Amino acid sequence: MKIITCVAPVNIAVIKYWGKRDEELILPLNDSISATLNIEHMCAKTTIMASSNFKENKIWLNGKEESFQNPRLSNCLKELKKRSQTQSDVINWNIHVCSENNFPTAAGLASSAAGYACFVYALAKLYEVEGDVTYIARQGSGSACRSIYGGWVQWHAGALKDGSDSIATQIVPASHWPEMRVVILVVSDSQKKNSSTNAMKRSAATSKFLEYRIKHIVPERTEKMIQAIKDRDFETFATITMKDSNQFHSVCLDTFPPVKYMNETSFIIVDLIHTYNEFRGSTKVAYTFDAGANACLYLLEEDVPEVISLIQNAFPTNTDHVEYFRGIPVTEQELSEEL
Ligand code: ADP
Ligand code: DP6
Ligand code: CO
Repeated sequence: MKIITCVAPVNIAVIKYWGKRDEELILPLNDSISATLNIEHMCAKTTIMASSNFKENKIWLNGKEESFQNPRLSNCLKELKKRSQTQSDVINWNIHVCSENNFPTAAGLASSAAGYACFVYALAKLYEVEGDVTYIARQGSGSACRSIYGGWVQWHAGALKDGSDSIATQIVPASHWPEMRVVILVVSDSQKKNSSTNAMKRSAATSKFLEYRIKHIVPERTEKMIQAIKDRDFETFATITMKDSNQFHSVCLDTFPPVKYMNETSFIIVDLIHTYNEFRGSTKVAYTFDAGANACLYLLEEDVPEVISLIQNAFPTNTDHVEYFRGIPVTEQELSEEL
């Protein structure tokens, strides 16, 4: 028997990935950019056991057995076996996978990103796979390829049909912008009605606005965002982040039938942040929402105490369903491993 445990963090996109050009290989319509969060706060922890005694592959997610007949799991497994350098018999054994997320699963907080990054990274260790594994993590869940690296990460859409150039690379390490913080506001921890996968498929099939976004908005925005991160230009970074989040949710409404992820509380948070930025006379906080109602705020360390008290005032405990994790620093890290 061989056992390995790994931990992988979530990442929060500031240029959103939404829409695929190839469903099976998980090839996106556009480049996306995110920051990978500190490993302790929101992560997936996955243990993989391989044994010659296991009759079949099995997986438990948050203590509940799920089917392994999931093409995303089997595609990742197949790709990793193809790249394996191991001389050991482990490659021929079945595996049992146990994974737990320490934050809400399928609630728009990037559980698929942490989950598949962890699964692929752990298997890569088990099978002794060297080199880039982001294109394999991508085949588990698109956003997962960005969680393989720490700091600021770009997932390149790529142009090749086989997807070999659709990989993630680090723009700069987190140490490049050490004052950056993320505050997560859990507005709703319940499972979303529309999975990201199904909803973005419908958007790609029905939204003309998405077509326009891909062609005319994202390429220029991506370049500007990379420059803002390199220059540590918070105002530009924050403005693009909020606009991209708003555009992604507008595309969701332009989808037919429409998809709605943000709720009343989400919009109260949006107003609150704009009012706060106006009051401060410059943009101090950026909000962004993934495929769910939960808000992620990007801000600098010096503003965290004031913003936290603002949120506490706006959402006093017990009257609203808002919890918060205080100022999670974006840190550079390697995915951790244990044998
Ligand atoms: P989210 O917004 O949380 O990423 P998605 O709809 O994109 O939600 O993906 C949720 C799915 O990701 C889950 O139903 C499950 O299939 C998969 N997933 C989540 N966490 C893990 C994990 N730790 N290990 C393996 N798969 C996971
Ligand atoms: C809104 O990576 O969860 O979070 O590739 O189908 O698994 P699949 O989708 P997923 O989509 C994430 C969408 C997003 C934006 C982002 O993270 O870039
Ligand atoms: Co996801």
